[in-house]
Amino acid sequence: LIAAFQPKVLAGKRVLITAGPTFEAIDPVRGITNLSSGKMGYAVARAAREAGAEVTLISGPTALDAPFGVQRLNVQSARQMHDAVMAQLDGQHVFIAVAAVADWRVLNSSEQKMKKQADGSVPELKFEQNPDILAAVAARTNLSGHPYCVGFAAESENLIEFGASKREKKGIPLLVGNIGHHTFGQDDNTIILFDENGHTVLPRAGKLNLARQLISEISKRLAQTSL
Ligand code: CTP
Ligand code: CA
Repeated sequence: LIAAFQPKVLAGKRVLITAGPTFEAIDPVRGITNLSSGKMGYAVARAAREAGAEVTLISGPTALDAPFGVQRLNVQSARQMHDAVMAQLDGQHVFIAVAAVADWRVLNSSEQKMKKQADGSVPELKFEQNPDILAAVAARTNLSGHPYCVGFAAESENLIEFGASKREKKGIPLLVGNIGHHTFGQDDNTIILFDENGHTVLPRAGKLNLARQLISEISKRLAQTSL
């Protein structure tokens, strides 16, 4: 019921969100992926919808149901996620990249299942870099500042330092930082918001609670960029 009483700070806005991990095939039965349950991205999608936005969620493989009223498109690989995001980009006011995108895909993936070798020899995987979806969207920000781009970063150390420099490197107005082992698979988290003025800590809370705070912060900044 609380959902119905959330302030409609994103009424009339279109919000595009990526969530979950990506899956990069090695062969038809195995692949490499990143740690991500999708819970934070889905919570952000739900909070944006509660705030009155029209929400499109591009999701890698997760065990979660689409939040009520959210349009979800399922993808597996980073390239599929990139293409789906680009196809949905027109007219979006906000882009929030919560997905844990695999930085590399397998260059020599196999069409057939790879079999164990009798002599114990192992496959030698080669990798190539995936497109950076967030950087690609940020590069297409228009003169009105749309889509307003928000990134997420899960670090294992030096979060304050890495968060601030990653925001600048990506060329985005807002970056949300968290520490990997404090968030993966969990129902709550601690996040730090990095913007041009520095950083603000949002203390440990449930992911939906944090997502609602984040949406409120985004809506304030969005109002400023569109002046
Ligand atoms: N991201 C993306 N596409 C990629 C990689 C990352 O859209 N190919 C987005 C993530 O969704 C996240 C942000 O970029 O919002 C930061 O991801 P992160 O992995 O922390 O940054 P990288 O630039 O990949 O740097 P690192 O070497 O630390 O992994
Ligand atoms: Ca990365």
